[in-house]
Amino acid sequence: MALEKVLLLVSLLAAQELAWSAGPRGAAAVPGAPSNISKDDRDLDQALRVATYSFNNQSNDAYLFRTSEVDRAQRQIVKGVRYILEVHISRTVCLKRLGWDPSDCDVQPEGLLHQTFQCHFEVLSRPWLHLMITTSSHCQA
Ligand SMILES: *[C@@H]1O[C@H](CO)[C@@H](O)[C@H](O)[C@H]1NC(C)=O
Ligand SMILES: *[C@@H]1O[C@H](CO)[C@@H](O)[C@H](O)[C@H]1NC(C)=O
Repeated sequence: MALEKVLLLVSLLAAQELAWSAGPRGAAAVPGAPSNISKDDRDLDQALRVATYSFNNQSNDAYLFRTSEVDRAQRQIVKGVRYILEVHISRTVCLKRLGWDPSDCDVQPEGLLHQTFQCHFEVLSRPWLHLMITTSSHCQA
């Protein structure tokens, strides 16, 4: 998915938030405990893109970061689908200002610019609105 599209989704969700909290339609999901999902899960890739987008938007780094390893991925049904992600995020060779999609960028080789953070992300998806947003983001070196 193009970054522009992710940005649009995030903006749309903000606009929908009030309307949604007044009464979700189609929210038939029953709340449940988080359960592990496969690293090949179709929707996991999109959740990772949304989380990575938030990380890059919040960082002051000149380079884009991308997911370099998924340690754990869980899904929980709570007023939508919550993805709970433990991942490594690494600096890529792509300068942020050039506007690349981070998943098209190689991770920095070992050396001065090589850096990896361990991150906990939570991404909320409301599929009936075609929306996904990062609700929690904590990273450490
Ligand atoms: C990106 O960051 C800017 C400034 O930090 C903020 O104003 C903007 O809302 C953020 N965009 C998204 C989609 O999070
Ligand atoms: C979930 O995945 C994590 C990491 O992959 C693993 O350590 C844990 O045992 C798994 N839990 C279950 C219930 O399978």
